[in-house]
Amino acid sequence: MSMQESTPQSAAEQPATPFDWLGGEPAVERLVNRFYDLMDLEPGYRELRASHGTTLDDARQKLFWFLCGWLGGPQHYQDRFGHPRLRMRHMPFKIGIQERDQWLACMDQALRDVGAPPELHQRLNQSFFQTADWMRNTPA
Ligand code: HEM
Repeated sequence: MSMQESTPQSAAEQPATPFDWLGGEPAVERLVNRFYDLMDLEPGYRELRASHGTTLDDARQKLFWFLCGWLGGPQHYQDRFGHPRLRMRHMPFKIGIQERDQWLACMDQALRDVGAPPELHQRLNQSFFQTADWMRNTPA
């Protein structure tokens, strides 16, 4: 058996980073826009929407910059603001189980809507869960 044959196909075909796998900056932009559009539109995300300000423009821009780096692409967020310190930056907002679960459901729906590859989608759901759960700052 040659070296090539012994390499699992998925590993050989898989792009180097989740950022590339998703489709680079245009795909991250589509994802973030869909995420905040859904947050604005869907009654199921009402409490999550309520913890945000009147406009979501600032959040859209910042989540786009942040996710590019978090997915293994360019560090736009860090270049501008330094270390994200996400937990600390979210302290002004109530994040309980309900907000966590609405954030995750909204992101799950956005990933589906932009056509993220299923294997990547599943991995990202797991990583987002870790991050969102760690950001809870109120028990309820
Ligand atoms: C779990 C529930 C969450 C709630 C309720 C929440 C809420 C918010 C709110 C209200 C803002 C401020 C938006 C603005 O500037 O107008 C914000 C900013 C932000 N959020 Fe979240 N968020 C949550 C989870 C997450 C997660 C899981 C991530 C990352 C994976 C994330 C990444 C960010 C980033 C990067 C910013 C911009 C921070 C800054 O520089 O000001 N958030 N979030």
